[in-house]
Amino acid sequence: MTVLSAHEFYSNCVAPSGAYKFHVAGQWSESSSGKLQAILSPQTNSTFAQVQACTQQEVDAAFQAAKKAQKDWAKVPLWKRAELLHRVAALMRENAQPIADVLVKEVAKPAAEALTEVVRSADLISYTAEEGLRFFGQGQLLASDSFPGQDRTKLCMASKVPLGVVLAIPPFNYPVNLAVSKIAPALMAGNTVVLKPPTQGAVAGVLMVQCFAAAGLPAGVLNCVTGKGSEIGDYLIAHPGVNAISFTGGDTGISICHKAGMVPIQMELGGKDAAIVCADADIELAAKHIVKGAFSYSGQRCTAVKVVLVEESVADQLVPLVVAGVKKMTVGMPEDNAQIVSVIGPSSANFIEGLVKDAEEKGATFCTGPFRRETNLIWPVVLDHVTPEMRIAWEEPFGPVLPIVRVKSVEQAIDHVNSNRLALQGCVFTRDVNKAIQISDAMETGSVQINSAPARGPDHFPFAGFRDSGISTQGIPKSLEFMCKTKTTVINLPTPSYTMG
Ligand code: G3P
Repeated sequence: MTVLSAHEFYSNCVAPSGAYKFHVAGQWSESSSGKLQAILSPQTNSTFAQVQACTQQEVDAAFQAAKKAQKDWAKVPLWKRAELLHRVAALMRENAQPIADVLVKEVAKPAAEALTEVVRSADLISYTAEEGLRFFGQGQLLASDSFPGQDRTKLCMASKVPLGVVLAIPPFNYPVNLAVSKIAPALMAGNTVVLKPPTQGAVAGVLMVQCFAAAGLPAGVLNCVTGKGSEIGDYLIAHPGVNAISFTGGDTGISICHKAGMVPIQMELGGKDAAIVCADADIELAAKHIVKGAFSYSGQRCTAVKVVLVEESVADQLVPLVVAGVKKMTVGMPEDNAQIVSVIGPSSANFIEGLVKDAEEKGATFCTGPFRRETNLIWPVVLDHVTPEMRIAWEEPFGPVLPIVRVKSVEQAIDHVNSNRLALQGCVFTRDVNKAIQISDAMETGSVQINSAPARGPDHFPFAGFRDSGISTQGIPKSLEFMCKTKTTVINLPTPSYTMG
């Protein structure tokens, strides 16, 4: 696999003005609107790059191209679809650095984590190609006489067929990884895709699409439109060309569910992942995982630890260890691999500040000094003695703020978890494995980690949110399942003549 020069890598998808183009029917184009969407740097709020502000007609063209390409794409032998995805993965690995560099600038992802995201994405594509070969290569044969009263007069062949055109909408925090986690299984299933990258993350999205284009994906199989959610967001979702939606993001997902047509929906929305710390826990281990889980990428992960529920008897041991860990974290620029970086934009920073002020007014203890913010850079905040009256006890800051609630019992902690409308993941720290399983069973969340912080990966594990945190399950095998429907063909046979001995 050849490493594309930076010029080759960018030349097709960048207009002479420097703005990034959109991709429909195998062509990189500039919008007929003549308008561009500015992508702002999270550090400075100044324009870092521009993408096309696509029109509704260009959205129509994307769906037309995807629909036109789909039937032929579904006929491409599975092994060839897998081979193409392996080629995409190889291109992504070889050219990972330019994409990672964009992630650093565009979404302020620390440099090492940005590179990890791209490599993880290539691995996800390769794994999906392999898993998809096995999954779609197998069907089911059923005989009628296993059902009471039936003779062996029917044989049912059940196979997996594509859904059609999948609308994929990833979030800003993993604009590459959570795009390919939708695109790769959709393509293996024989679907075509219309991708709407997040505004912040659109440039990384365009470069990711360039890997698919450069690998030789047929025209129309993967289309990418960029622009303002307010102009094309609802239009995309309610478009008659959509046969399935896969979305990751916040509460927007709930309104998407209300606006979407009668199509399968895969949603991963927010989380308020709790860390329950039992009195018998290894407190040092718990503190270490809580710090990393709460503050990596400045808490901008659906799976971040977003509330600690600690038994009162060990709270005075846990809190100083968490605070000591947080005070060691570096705050600064993503280029320098600082652990705490600017959050994605001013509205996010304002929202986080509002939650912190609310907790301050209601009497929370600031363990990390007074609140400090410069533009969108917020110094990490640990709040102790948080009570249920405070918004931070329930809401998701998506920023570097960790509330600690001291609970009288594990039952109170479980009750807190199950009272939240968000129910993505959670974790429990205890030395008693039987107790851990009981607590996991009682926590009504999609996943529970025992003695570690919540996380989505490895990417083949099932990943689902309950209640307002999601619909359907992700993780490579589950996403392959989501991206297809079952088709049955029944062979009717003559009534057999038989005698019972
Ligand atoms: O925020 C998106 C969610 O999928 C988090 O993934 O890998 O950071 O646990 P991860």
